[in-house]
Amino acid sequence: MSSRHEPSRWVPVVSGVLGTLFVCAVVWACGASSEVSVEADPDGGGGTSGRNPPPPPPPTDAAVFDSATPDGDTDGGPTPNGATAPNLKVAFIGDTGSGADFKSVLQLIVREKADFVMIQGDLTYGFSLTPAADWFTAVDNEINKAQPGSTAAVTIPFFVSKGNHDISWGGLGDGLGQGLKARLVTWGVPAGNGDPTKKNYSLVYKGLKMVMVDETETNPTRADYVNSQLQNDTQIWKICSWHKNMRASNVGPKNDEMGWAIYENCRNQGAIVAQGHSHTYSRSKTLIKDSDQTVDTACADPFAPCVGPGKHFFFDSSIGGEDTRSLEASVAAAPYWASTYTGSFGALFITFNVDGNPKKAEGYFKTVGDVVVDPPAGSGKTTFTITKTP
Ligand SMILES: [Fe+2]
Repeated sequence: MSSRHEPSRWVPVVSGVLGTLFVCAVVWACGASSEVSVEADPDGGGGTSGRNPPPPPPPTDAAVFDSATPDGDTDGGPTPNGATAPNLKVAFIGDTGSGADFKSVLQLIVREKADFVMIQGDLTYGFSLTPAADWFTAVDNEINKAQPGSTAAVTIPFFVSKGNHDISWGGLGDGLGQGLKARLVTWGVPAGNGDPTKKNYSLVYKGLKMVMVDETETNPTRADYVNSQLQNDTQIWKICSWHKNMRASNVGPKNDEMGWAIYENCRNQGAIVAQGHSHTYSRSKTLIKDSDQTVDTACADPFAPCVGPGKHFFFDSSIGGEDTRSLEASVAAAPYWASTYTGSFGALFITFNVDGNPKKAEGYFKTVGDVVVDPPAGSGKTTFTITKTP
């Protein structure tokens, strides 16, 4: 594995990113559809000052998801019944970089019609003087039509946890944290607890609870932070998202870096754990103790995991475009894995609230070559099915 070198210095530049002048029009556009794509600003793109936005769309099934925003937005905040939007498809990737392979993964995400993306860190690598700007250029031009100047055909929002390579996170003006915070405003995502500049932050979008934590320890601890954000949360589906791993929680080359406490806290609160960092793909079976990888014998089917208080699974979907790493055979052979893979870039997709059942979800990992590797073809399945109980 080639080691990578962090640039010791980088120069923030004024990005001119987001104009709040555009926010109203774009917020309307986001709220006007519960579908994947956000269509063009009805004013023809760009400025809307002094114009009245069109009326909000008629109520849809997603209308129950919002009671706070006056603009017809139906995407944000806790939902009365805890459900996500019906058929809410979320893509999970990590370790993207900003090059051609990342763009291929984003194009896969467009083809698969994901509603939004959760990224488990490591967006920026190498020696670029403006790494955050480079990454935003790549992602905005593929999946963020709402961004002024974007060449994208659709808008698919993205939510990010910080990785160890994301040293430009706190840069002034065009840092990753500031840029991500501004984009949440553009998309009309209501504030949750904290924001991307804080590194530990949580929010609900389209009914999915997401808790992001930093890649290094914080005060209060990250384990305490996830507890604080999950313990009174009533959303049916919850995701804990971070960049790093434990040796036993990834099949790539990464060693113990997170500590088990935060995994156990997420499990006790019935939250799925999303990791990055290893540049491989893996998904555990249902676990009732993370630190020794105890599989739930009542729910041991690798393609039918269960999630609820005290049980969950963790995954690491981090072949998002930077590079791929070899499997660590001794770990990958362990019996608690439902799926392990490396070789091509790709993304894990999970669709929540399927078949009219808010507590049913379906997942699959697909490569940029449009091959589903989880579940494998030999399983006879095209998705794995997740059940939330209670
Ligand atoms: Fe990393």
